[in-house]
Amino acid sequence: MSVPAQYDKGFFGHPKGLSTLFFTELWERFSYYGMRAILLLYLTAAVADGGLGFDVGKGTSIYALYTSMVYLLSLPGGWVADRFLGQRKAVLYGGILIMLGHFTLAIPAVEAFFTGLVLIVVGTGLLKPNISAIVGQLYHENDDRRDAGFSLFYMGINFGALAGPFVCPLLGENVDWHLGFAAAGIGMFFGLIQYVRGAKYLGDAGAEPEKFEDPREAGRHRRILTAGIAIAVIAAAAVAALHFSGIFVLTVERIADSFGFILFAIPVVFFAGLFLAEKWTPVEKGRLATIVVLFLAAAFFWAAYEQAGSSLTLFAERSTDREVWGFPEFPAGWFQQLPALFCVILAPVFAWLWVRLGRKQPSSPAKFAIGLVLVGLGFVVMMGAASASAAGARISLWWLVATYFLHVLGEMCLSPVGLSTMTKLAPTRVTGMMMGVWFLAASVGNYVAGRLAGQYESLPLWQLFGLFVLLTFGAGAVLALLVRPIRRMMGGVH
Ligand code: PHE
Repeated sequence: MSVPAQYDKGFFGHPKGLSTLFFTELWERFSYYGMRAILLLYLTAAVADGGLGFDVGKGTSIYALYTSMVYLLSLPGGWVADRFLGQRKAVLYGGILIMLGHFTLAIPAVEAFFTGLVLIVVGTGLLKPNISAIVGQLYHENDDRRDAGFSLFYMGINFGALAGPFVCPLLGENVDWHLGFAAAGIGMFFGLIQYVRGAKYLGDAGAEPEKFEDPREAGRHRRILTAGIAIAVIAAAAVAALHFSGIFVLTVERIADSFGFILFAIPVVFFAGLFLAEKWTPVEKGRLATIVVLFLAAAFFWAAYEQAGSSLTLFAERSTDREVWGFPEFPAGWFQQLPALFCVILAPVFAWLWVRLGRKQPSSPAKFAIGLVLVGLGFVVMMGAASASAAGARISLWWLVATYFLHVLGEMCLSPVGLSTMTKLAPTRVTGMMMGVWFLAASVGNYVAGRLAGQYESLPLWQLFGLFVLLTFGAGAVLALLVRPIRRMMGGVH
């Protein structure tokens, strides 16, 4: 028999179902970040070393496409769950696809590699947005444990993100890349087992898709789904035809370029549509404008922050001394534990700090600006690291440690408050879309991050890292100037 969620305190004072979701997401992030820590290294490793032997431009293009698509597909993933599957099934199917995807990567063949990436992209699109949505449904509307529940869930994310980049690089870099990918799949397998076993604690959260009052409405959604799938299939067929007929031969870089155009068009069309969709009041218009500004700030933030798995991992591999205290050289992917480790340590500190500051704490747009500047400072450190290693020397690992520390300080100002701020700002009719907007910002940011990292070998490194200083300081300064007008526009929302 299930206890009504508001009385259930089985998991650190939270509903027991949160434990189910906590560990599912932990293992999913284990697989995602574990695999990602070795992805670019595998793409660029020489064929003799078991890698794919791609140059940095091609490798980072694939990396950009992959890391951008996982979050972009959250938009259709959320929609399909709301309308057809219900979140619970979406998470299950998503998890299965992710697991199969990593196991497919474990097969040493290029075709298997690309198939695996596609499976993970689709699976993550189904799992990631919907698991967070179920977390929200565990609580009554006025349950004040809700925010704390999300913080706990965020911890789960980072525990997974800490363990994955320990295990996968250890096996992947030291033994065999494919073993590293398989380990990611095994992690997702554990996640699935406990998701299925813990399903009983979820009550009816996310069990059913939305009910339509009007059957015509249901028909309309079904038609959109059919049309969407049809368009995707036709587009893929058309592209394949162009490629094989030799009219427009596809290269990875060309695919990445074209995808970029489409990706950038999406927010433009989306926000234009949103502004024109209804007669918004002046207050609502101001708030929507604020959402656009925060969207852009978040995209800039991720573009710099997400150098973690790309340029900073290459730097770890090529320019960092990884032989410490007489131990044999440790895997470069191990550095990917640092962001998660700092998140786990700093999240409680920041939670305490915001409470402590109370009404004196910075407004959310100010926090965004601070976050941008902190990431920029991380890249100031990297400019120093780049010049210290310019002559080809392997330099101390503390450069990267300091950089990641600054980056996570920035993340703490932006990531945990971002989604909730946007949701509070949005007019009630469109709050449901804000999760999508948040993921879209991450998608755009990850794309830009990957493509810029493609300059790793063509620009002097201090210039590449300097570019991120310019981008984040620039965006941070613009945002800082906008804080006052934005606070007025936010109309009461702090
Ligand atoms: N650490 C976060 C996570 O993996 C990063 C993120 C932010 C991902 C926003 C998607 C959207 O969940």
